[in-house]
Amino acid sequence: MTWGRKIDVHKNITVIPGDGIGPEVVEQALRVLDQIERVHGHRFERVEALAGGAALDATGVPLPAETLETCKASDAVLLGALGGPKWDANPPGKKPETGLLGLRAGLGLYANLRPARVYSALANASTLKRDVVEGVDLLIVRELTGGIYFGKPRGISKEGEEEVGINTEVYRTSEIRRIAKAGFEAARKRRRKLTSVDKANVLEASQLWRRVVTEVANDFPDVELGHLYVDNCAMQLIANPKQFDVVVTSNLFGDILSDEAAMLTGSIGMLPSASLGGSLGMYEPVHGSAPDIAGKDIANPIATIASLAMMLKYSFGLQHESEGIEQAIVSVLEKGFRTADLREEGATIVGTRQMGDLILEEIG
Ligand code: IPM
Ligand code: MG
Repeated sequence: MTWGRKIDVHKNITVIPGDGIGPEVVEQALRVLDQIERVHGHRFERVEALAGGAALDATGVPLPAETLETCKASDAVLLGALGGPKWDANPPGKKPETGLLGLRAGLGLYANLRPARVYSALANASTLKRDVVEGVDLLIVRELTGGIYFGKPRGISKEGEEEVGINTEVYRTSEIRRIAKAGFEAARKRRRKLTSVDKANVLEASQLWRRVVTEVANDFPDVELGHLYVDNCAMQLIANPKQFDVVVTSNLFGDILSDEAAMLTGSIGMLPSASLGGSLGMYEPVHGSAPDIAGKDIANPIATIASLAMMLKYSFGLQHESEGIEQAIVSVLEKGFRTADLREEGATIVGTRQMGDLILEEIG
């Protein structure tokens, strides 16, 4: 151990800008990363890779084998957003979203962390009343490589005169156990309260889920476990979101509940995510590619910048640098700067790039 000497970090990052607003929000995150290098003396090599619509246009497939290889050879992945109307009518295997699912599965990223924190500067930006959302600080732990997104049988087939579309919710004990553990471990680092969300009153897959989560709880006696049906959880998130600390749930329920949780914060443009579980992590904003506002310099880059902060913390152990970015975001918001999605009386509306400038100025 060397005392008093700073140890610089040198890491490789695969950057997948993607489609729509992806490239412009990622650009701001990378400028913030430049600033972290300057201020703290670390080095982050970046290599760009294609996925989604950009990959379809360039190579004909949404996830070129080369992209997966590049990701696997790096220490972490930063992703913008994938998809857009141009490719919406493509057959299933040729949709940009297939590329995203392939990345998650290919990298073994079964645990998706989606924190939703309401900054007090933004408590008026929510469609809900200030006293309902102010102080909300919850974390959704979404299972990311199983459930109905990947279950078989699936597909569209003929049945006499009719066509039938089938998808299957499948969860194995091992899959439930590992995501439950991720939920409990996250809760242990926070307020020690875990809510497991399922639909055990109807679905067998959920009945198994509830049983296994309850078993795993034996290893975490210091964490308080509760269960909610997903419909009730959707309601509770609006009625009394402050009751939640960590929520652990399946792939599909987590997809839906995390969009809902995002709106507590005022804008889905605020929500970062980390996908963990494999040998490296992937970091992406929760929002989509927003093709309608792409290229106009009005998109909110905060979710991507906050995703970068999660990368520094979870993949590189740079807690201090990560908190520095979060603090910079808070300061800029407290000074009254907002992107258009957070428009409110008295705020100064800035573009994508200017929001990036403001945040990196705060950092150093
Ligand atoms: C998300 C998105 C994706 C999902 C889509 C784009 C495939 O909605 O990350 O929440 O459903 O997982
Ligand atoms: Mg979603």
